[in-house]
Amino acid sequence: MNHSADSGGGAFRAIDVICKKRDGHELSRAEIEFLVRGYTHNQIPDYQVSAWLMAALLKGLSRAETAALTDAMLHSGEVLDLSEFPAPKIDKHSTGGVGDKTSLVLAPLVAAAGVYVPMISGRGLGHTGGTLDKLESIPGFDVKLPLARFREILRACGCAMIGQTREIAPADRLFYSLRDVTGTVESPFLICASIMSKKLAEGIDGLVLDVKTGSGAFMKTDEDAAFLAELMVETGQRMGKKVVALLTDMDQPLGLRVGNALEVEEAIEVLLGAGPDDLRELCVELAAWMIHLGGRASSVGEAKKVAVELIRSGQAFKKFRQLVELQGGDVSRIDDPTRLPQAKFSLDVESPANGYVASIQCEDVGTACVILGGGREKKEDTVDPAVGIILHKKAGDAVSAGDSLCTLKYNSEERAARAKALLEKSYRIAASAPVPRKLIRRILPRQG
Ligand code: URA
Repeated sequence: MNHSADSGGGAFRAIDVICKKRDGHELSRAEIEFLVRGYTHNQIPDYQVSAWLMAALLKGLSRAETAALTDAMLHSGEVLDLSEFPAPKIDKHSTGGVGDKTSLVLAPLVAAAGVYVPMISGRGLGHTGGTLDKLESIPGFDVKLPLARFREILRACGCAMIGQTREIAPADRLFYSLRDVTGTVESPFLICASIMSKKLAEGIDGLVLDVKTGSGAFMKTDEDAAFLAELMVETGQRMGKKVVALLTDMDQPLGLRVGNALEVEEAIEVLLGAGPDDLRELCVELAAWMIHLGGRASSVGEAKKVAVELIRSGQAFKKFRQLVELQGGDVSRIDDPTRLPQAKFSLDVESPANGYVASIQCEDVGTACVILGGGREKKEDTVDPAVGIILHKKAGDAVSAGDSLCTLKYNSEERAARAKALLEKSYRIAASAPVPRKLIRRILPRQG
């Protein structure tokens, strides 16, 4: 391994780039390109990039450094040209949450409205779930398609959902899995570069960002989430894209199910016109923005009506079925979701008292799902598609002592015991109900 690879902008040493950031200095574009290129070409080892990521998380990056990192990651691979497609290409990306299965609903729903959705998603990151892990809980569903097949499916179906390939933003695939296991996710600069590099490589015309805020988000406060949203909107606009960011609540899990196959099941409920209110509301809102940016409705209000009708008429679910079939998934499991992977055992977490659910520490719910095997603790871990948590009570619900707050679906007793202990701590029961939090908290840039 050559630790002093030549970047083309002069020879650097990884150790110097790490120390410069550790000491709070601004890196040059050439130094950042050296780091990204060196890691992508296996010339700089994991441990040095881990150290750099931690320094970047602790010291922050300037706007120029963030732009340089985004550009280096974007150009670590190919930038798709989808200009031959006859309608706008719009995607959505979430900064990551717990129980956030909106992508599974949005890709087919928005495609059914006549907007192309070329979606490149990620795996679970930290305590948050990932769209690819969810899709892979449908037996046969292939998220590792070659780009030529991705285009064919996009043309035939209007949407296609894959993970990063060697061709598209390969640097982010590597950085992402390293950040997942080194405590270096929660940096707005690293999140911005990660999300925007892969989204800008997709050949899209517009992007709807779902920036999560609250105890289950990487950004815990509205201020931090707004900072991240502004950074991403600015980056997208710099590249000439239409970008809108919705700050949405992640102070408790979205919907009632957390875990890969469980979330596919809940997404199907929404596509069929049912499902929990919060999940349905957010799906319709995000879909409406995508449809509006894609020029299929003159206002977001009109676009909402389009989305609601596509669900009611069954066209959105039909599109999901088509997508699953084209990507090799077993559609009989979609038609009968009880045939999706099922955990062997169940266990309830009971309320210790009478009262109301005052709050749910949402990150702990995500971590409990990871502990059950629904996410990764090390890069090499495989994910158990069947395990997870079904919530019966959410913030504001009245409870009596002994009521089931949630049910764990598990395959290992030892893991279940650890997850249960965490979930018991995550629910706070109080004598009075909390003030409800708004689901959609802010929209950027300011409209009107
Ligand atoms: N989602 C991403 O794609 N990257 C991040 O860094 C966080 C959430």
